[in-house]
Amino acid sequence: MAKVHLRKVTVDNFQECVSLELNENQKKFVAPNIRSLAQAYVNPNLFPLAVYDASVLGHEKPQSPMVGFIMYEIIGGVGFILRLMIDSKYQQQGYGKAAMLEVIRRLKLYPEVELIATGHDPYNQIASKLYRNIGFVDWDIEFPENPEPQVFLKLDS
Ligand SMILES: CC(C)(COP(=O)(O)OP(=O)(O)OC[C@H]1O[C@@H](n2cnc3c(N)ncnc32)[C@H](O)[C@@H]1OP(=O)(O)O)[C@@H](O)C(=O)NCCC(=O)NCCS
Repeated sequence: MAKVHLRKVTVDNFQECVSLELNENQKKFVAPNIRSLAQAYVNPNLFPLAVYDASVLGHEKPQSPMVGFIMYEIIGGVGFILRLMIDSKYQQQGYGKAAMLEVIRRLKLYPEVELIATGHDPYNQIASKLYRNIGFVDWDIEFPENPEPQVFLKLDS
């Protein structure tokens, strides 16, 4: 099974992070990384992280390219995973699932996080399958301030 190492986005890996690419038909499912990083700059509840293969762990300078990006938010007692993308070159190798599992591990360490949740576009079948396979179930909640139709899921634990 693939393993990941998550690292902060800094001046050293910013360019690589905003250059990660998706297939044309996937772009509608997630905000561009540059937008997520801008949101995190003004919102201290957001935690953006670069995804690397676990072989990078312990190296001051990553020895292999960044494979993706993930961002969570801690708000209202919920740890909400709101962005996940794996560069199209590195998809279907287990990195998406491994990144979710690593963020869930981290969220469980926050005393204030009472629920772990996520969401996806109703047409995003790959995300739906991935999230449900790792234990997410429907979360019956509405966020009137969110204009996009979204399926909300919570971790059933
Ligand atoms: C969703 C996404 C992050 C998955 O990343 P990934 O690294 O390819 O996923 P994994 O390799 O960990 O695979 C997870 C599961 O999805 C399945 N999967 C991934 N890509 C698939 C594809 N193109 N077609 C069919 N199944 C696919 C895998 O087979 C795997 O299923 P399994 O657990 O039953 O084996 C990636 O497709 C992506 O970046 N998509 C565009 C952005 C997006 O939709 N983000 C989610 C926003 S909510």
